[in-house]
Amino acid sequence: MFSAYTGSRLKENQDFWGEYWAAGPLTSMVDGFESNYRGELRERWLQFFSVFPASARLLDIGTGNGAIAMLAAEYSRSEQRDFELHGADLALIDPRRSLKEKAELVDSITFHSAAAAEDLPFEDRWFDGVSGQYALEYTRHKDALAELWRVLKPGGRACFVMHDHGSEVLRRGREQLRQIKLIEELKFYDAVDALIGQIGLMNEGRATAGNEEAEKRRHQVNEIAASLGAEASSSFSPESLRLAMGFGSRALEVLGPKGMASAREQTARGRKELAGARLRYEDLVRAAGPAGQSQAIVALAQKQGFVDLVLEPVKHDSNVLIGQQLTMLRPREG
Ligand SMILES: C[S@@+](CC[C@H](N)C(=O)[O-])C[C@H]1O[C@@H](n2cnc3c(N)ncnc32)[C@H](O)[C@@H]1O
Repeated sequence: MFSAYTGSRLKENQDFWGEYWAAGPLTSMVDGFESNYRGELRERWLQFFSVFPASARLLDIGTGNGAIAMLAAEYSRSEQRDFELHGADLALIDPRRSLKEKAELVDSITFHSAAAAEDLPFEDRWFDGVSGQYALEYTRHKDALAELWRVLKPGGRACFVMHDHGSEVLRRGREQLRQIKLIEELKFYDAVDALIGQIGLMNEGRATAGNEEAEKRRHQVNEIAASLGAEASSSFSPESLRLAMGFGSRALEVLGPKGMASAREQTARGRKELAGARLRYEDLVRAAGPAGQSQAIVALAQKQGFVDLVLEPVKHDSNVLIGQQLTMLRPREG
């Protein structure tokens, strides 16, 4: 049963994350991190896991398909530890089903679906450590920090890599949003669907080849595709444009051999993927907040009682900023 709190948050905006994870990506940043996080980011996580004793109990919040929990599982295995690993997410997640090819690692983690960081289904003082990659900033910060304090043992440590307003991830995210809005404004899929309808009529002999309406629709699709193509060639990150045009051209390719229903299936898939991506990018921009948000989270954590707070920029290939790492400790008592 969901708690009232988690239930209302789930309804608000979480379906799109659940759908994303069900499709099987390992991380939320598929570009460059297809087989889990690597480079400096991975090293920072391994460094965090190295401070825990062999039988530590660890929780990864906002876990998605469990990328960070899996890094912990790999570390535990290679360093002869015996970590007890948990991954929790507000969205409906089921990595056992969506990541079948990683079954062995996934099976070493207990996943908790529909578990908000602000309302965790665990006893007080249960964990030696808590992690979150692009997770804490998505929550209601003050409530989540209070809850993390509650579930951490005194002496327990937490580590979060958070989005930064000025990072490359945000620059790309804003660019994807701009592209998705453009595709919607130009009504690309409406135009492709209208053309499919005209070609379908001609194929069925219900309209004459090259009739005026069909030519008008073809012209419209070509014009929109030319605008999107021009945008794609001048963009530093044209993924959403490419994705949209890919579905559009596949729709027209399958129309001849497979018919109208198959062609429209492609445009429907394109619309759905773009709608999901739009919600995720909007969530990204909202979560990253204004410049200086990470410092504000540090101040809240301090107020909560956490100590040894360290905030450091995280860089990736070619020294590109991809977030801010916060580490902190719930002090021992007495
Ligand atoms: C950007 S994804 C990161 C997922 C994963 N940590 C990774 O790096 O691939 C953010 C995740 O946080 C989850 N989330 C958002 N708000 C949350 C909350 N209040 N409590 C727990 N999880 C939350 C979303 O459902 C989503 O799966």
